[in-house]
Amino acid sequence: MICLFLLFTTQNLCLNNNFIRIEKSIYILAIESSCDDTSAAILHNGKVLSNVVANQEIHSAYGGVVPELASRAHQQNIVPVVQQALQRANIVKKDLSAIAFTKGPGLMGSLLVGTSFAKSLAQALQIPLIAVNHMQAHILAHFIEEDSYPKPPFPFLCLTISGGHTEIVKISDYFEMEILGSTLDDAVGEAYDKSAKILGLGYPGGPLIDKLAQSGNPKAYQFTKPKVGPLDFSFSGLKTAILYFIRKKQAENPDFIKENLADICASIQHTIVTILMDKIANAVEQTGITHIAIAGGVSANSEIRKRLKETEKTKKWTAYIPKFEYTTDNAAMIGIVGYYKYLIDTFDPNTITASSRLKVDE
Ligand code: KG4
Ligand code: ZN
Repeated sequence: MICLFLLFTTQNLCLNNNFIRIEKSIYILAIESSCDDTSAAILHNGKVLSNVVANQEIHSAYGGVVPELASRAHQQNIVPVVQQALQRANIVKKDLSAIAFTKGPGLMGSLLVGTSFAKSLAQALQIPLIAVNHMQAHILAHFIEEDSYPKPPFPFLCLTISGGHTEIVKISDYFEMEILGSTLDDAVGEAYDKSAKILGLGYPGGPLIDKLAQSGNPKAYQFTKPKVGPLDFSFSGLKTAILYFIRKKQAENPDFIKENLADICASIQHTIVTILMDKIANAVEQTGITHIAIAGGVSANSEIRKRLKETEKTKKWTAYIPKFEYTTDNAAMIGIVGYYKYLIDTFDPNTITASSRLKVDE
């Protein structure tokens, strides 16, 4: 068990019940390039000094991320993004203690840009290199030092929902994670993005559907929920059901989407979020753990945030809802993992490579 208490720039690190006093200013440069956002952040003793994210607009026209275009854009963005992160944090490269980067999972071409950059800079500056699992980072973003964002106590459950993952994870310690359930096919973010594509909206579809859903009736249309194990998810059937529903309605009325867009979005959102909430309830019942966090891009969703928060009153759970800027891909979350690994001297050699497939418990 690792426990940490921060007091100004002095930390007391409790490792195997031995308290180690660290009096040092730790500056981490973190780099995230797993998909279509190039991001760099500077953290000082677990606090975010800067978190720069360059979104790649180019994919919008294609309704999804084009891997070759993503890696090319990362190459163009990475140097200016890192420079901006240093500038905004008001530090220079020689102040850095270590460089953390996303090792995986993600798109290989995109990961390689961040990995190569981090390796060369760490070597040039002669400072440690720290490889970070992107999915662990989404979860551990809850440990970024932020006023009025309490950190979840161990053990807690985390619903990890992004464009590539949908999992319920039990977190027993910073680096002790167990997947209790996951999707058998599409991720929940994909369900949002594919539904948006069917409706002729842009990419990423999640925020667009979320926004349109605000003015719609969530009970206007009904979609069948998948029949899978209590902690498993399946979203590909829902996507097909939405596609057939829209085709049928359009055959009756070619303007169906235009005339009912808000109601369609609200109904899709309500179905998806109800599935997510039901699964969390199953996990609470199985484990008895009532400290519940959400993480990943879809945790930016207004309805899941609202409905999870409501359970504090209705079910006496404690909800941990991440700060909005730490939901979708960002380097600050990579930085917090880098910081915790730095405190326990977990560094990586310069021969390390990216891994496009990496589970949360690896
Ligand atoms: O974590 P993330 O930035 O990247 C991955 O690691 O995949 O998640 C991206 C996903 C996309 O599918 C996007 O549509 C979804 O998060 N997303 C949302 C919202 N904001 C982003 N989904 C629903 N509601 C939102 N407000
Ligand atoms: Zn992500």
